[in-house]
Amino acid sequence: MALVEFRGVSYEISGKPILSDVSLGVEAGETLVLLGRSGSGKTTALKMINGMLFPTRGEVLVDGRPTTEWDPIRLRRRIGYVIQEVGLFPHFTVGDNVGLVPKLEGWSATDIERRVNLLLEKVGMPPGEFRSRYPRQLSGGQRQRVGVARALAADPPVLLFDEPFGALDPVMRWELQQQFLNLRRDFQKTSIFVTHDVREALLLGSNIALLAGGRLDVIAPPQEFRRARSEEARAFLGCLDN
Ligand SMILES: Nc1ncnc2c1ncn2[C@@H]1O[C@H](COP(=O)(O)OP(=O)(O)O)[C@@H](O)[C@H]1O
Ligand SMILES: [Mg+2]
Repeated sequence: MALVEFRGVSYEISGKPILSDVSLGVEAGETLVLLGRSGSGKTTALKMINGMLFPTRGEVLVDGRPTTEWDPIRLRRRIGYVIQEVGLFPHFTVGDNVGLVPKLEGWSATDIERRVNLLLEKVGMPPGEFRSRYPRQLSGGQRQRVGVARALAADPPVLLFDEPFGALDPVMRWELQQQFLNLRRDFQKTSIFVTHDVREALLLGSNIALLAGGRLDVIAPPQEFRRARSEEARAFLGCLDN
């Protein structure tokens, strides 16, 4: 069974279609990349998974249950969310930011500390050096690593990434992409990853869904996606030649 499923999902804002009849499934352990130009509806689709938005038509199911039937807080606790601006709390230390959701979930202080230390290690930020720092004392790439650690903290089965590495320089971006692959190997999470970068899509996706003007244009694993013939797919794949 798909862990996340879109069934004929449309979304309109004052009569303007933003998503049109999107159907797709994300299996456990898979990384589905949502690829598309700016404005194609990627963020809108992502926000429907954790119940920040609800379909105008159709339904989004998480664990087989429509998002409209989930208690919103329980739903969001099952879903880690990583965005470009990170959204760390500036007055919380790195350790407190990462440990926030486990704390809300009522974990013991010892368990929280163990988890925070493990995750900071995993994202390449030695806890002895970093856990007491504040977000402003970190580089952009380090803040993004903390954002990833925080999303993983309470061990949610589903992770959403909205162009998390878009603002980083190319070297940092590469490092974080490699780290994403390592974390996927270690934690076996189900992820939905938004990007407008076809290279990133091919590197990270086990499946790639190309959105064009709010419609699902192509959905295919990377090797097959490379051979996709739609106009939009060719426009993206053309970027690989130079
Ligand atoms: N709150 C809103 N009101 C009106 N239009 C919106 C709103 N949110 C998004 N849109 C429009 O919906 C389309 C898709 O937006 P979005 O999902 O953010 O695209 P993407 O993440 O692919 O760049 C865009 O044309 C955007 O302008
Ligand atoms: Mg977006």
